[in-house]
Amino acid sequence: MPDLFEVMSTMRAMRRLKPDPVPDELINQILQAGQWAPSGGNTQRWRFLVVKDPEVKKKVQVYYSRLYDEQVGPRYATSAPPPGSDLGRYQRQNAAVKYLTDHYHEAPVWIVACLEDGENPGRTAGSSIYGAVQNMCLACRALGLGTTLTTRHTGYGKEVDAIFGLPPGAHSYAILPIGWPMGRFGPLGRGPLQDVVYQDQWGKPYQGL
Ligand SMILES: Cc1cc2nc3c(=O)[nH]c(=O)nc-3n(C[C@H](O)[C@H](O)[C@H](O)COP(=O)(O)O)c2cc1C
Repeated sequence: MPDLFEVMSTMRAMRRLKPDPVPDELINQILQAGQWAPSGGNTQRWRFLVVKDPEVKKKVQVYYSRLYDEQVGPRYATSAPPPGSDLGRYQRQNAAVKYLTDHYHEAPVWIVACLEDGENPGRTAGSSIYGAVQNMCLACRALGLGTTLTTRHTGYGKEVDAIFGLPPGAHSYAILPIGWPMGRFGPLGRGPLQDVVYQDQWGKPYQGL
């Protein structure tokens, strides 16, 4: 098992996944990692939906794909590469994003992270679920499974929550498509750390680096 810092520094978004099945015992380890996360007041209002039914996944993929055409594709076509990336890398990222869009439903297992009474438009929206989501992403990487944190479906949140049969007051915050990766885990592309860390006041360079 790789050490935690190696896991974190190589946990790329793995968007090309094999359709081969993933044993339930591995999914259970991932779910346990999610449930170990903190939540505000330890309220644990999360619910984790394990989705394997191809029909349910396909219905959601239709909305996911529509949102690519409506928003994500045009944005990639006109925006600059993010820090630590370049045009070639950004174009490869977009190709992988499109691949996942077309094959979203073929990932053998999804974990849908939901919160009861969680939709809070303030700054803390999602803060009691995204820790669990990140724990599950890290657990996937540690087990050699690929996943990507995806939230695009929330563009059609009501429609997608209805497909999952969520009751009033519960909302889905992220979908993790999980499967064995086609490619390899590798180093992440990020900008220089000193560009994003300040000391004492916004804009003052941090002396520790
Ligand atoms: C809040 C959030 C939402 C995201 N939603 C999506 C998504 O809907 N689809 C997708 O392909 N990637 C999604 N991502 C993945 C990001 O694009 C990815 O983390 C980023 O490009 C860095 O990739 P890397 O870790 O491989 O360098 C999301 C990530 C975050 C943190």
